[in-house]
Amino acid sequence: MHTVEIEHTADGSATLFVKEMDEHYHSVKGALTESNHIFRDSAFLYRADGSPLRLLEVGFGTDLNAAVTAMVADENHPVHYISLEKYPVQGEILSQLGYEELVDEGLLHKIHAAPWDVPVEIFPGFVLEKRQCDYTRDPLPEGIDVVYFDAFAPEKQPDMWTEGAFERLVGAMSRGAVLTTYCSKGEIRRRLESLGLRVERIPGPPGGKREILRATRL
Ligand SMILES: C[S@@+](CC[C@H](N)C(=O)[O-])C[C@H]1O[C@@H](n2cnc3c(N)ncnc32)[C@H](O)[C@@H]1O
Repeated sequence: MHTVEIEHTADGSATLFVKEMDEHYHSVKGALTESNHIFRDSAFLYRADGSPLRLLEVGFGTDLNAAVTAMVADENHPVHYISLEKYPVQGEILSQLGYEELVDEGLLHKIHAAPWDVPVEIFPGFVLEKRQCDYTRDPLPEGIDVVYFDAFAPEKQPDMWTEGAFERLVGAMSRGAVLTTYCSKGEIRRRLESLGLRVERIPGPPGGKREILRATRL
């Protein structure tokens, strides 16, 4: 379990800071901007073609990525959103983040209230499955079309970014699946390429990192 503190990022949205790791849950340049650009737009909406998609998030955290994705999912963009989390954030902290000002309050409440380890239909077109597990050890779901790779940074948590861990993840991805991550390091890009993914450097969020990575399983 991490000890966390609430902080505000440059776009006004809140994030959590983990003191013992000296690491934030989102970019300090803008948590909401990062979620919208790197994950919702560059992965989910980029891949969405109207067919039911299976999405895997590595690191559920505050649920911001889940909430912004739910805001654009519907019966025309249906998604089964599976999110892995080893250390769920306490409800008391989630309720102080102010995310009800960014996304629909009723929706946010349903996401918070959804029980762990079972799929829950939040509304038609959006099934949420929060799994409390260890990404580095526990079995991964199969047939994944979209990956939000949102682990803490490689220098803070290297075991999430190893070649072996990525090999398992690629094994869970279907052909044509896309993965995005905020990390644009050459070392990580080469690791993904060595596993047969096509990796692009695409522009980062406004006011944030210059480049991010999007990888496609061919
Ligand atoms: C960068 S934060 C994720 C932010 C999140 N996507 C959000 O929208 O708030 C990384 C997350 O990975 C989780 N985590 C750390 N180690 C993990 C592991 N071995 N398995 C699953 N989740 C892990 C952390 O607890 C943290 O919530």
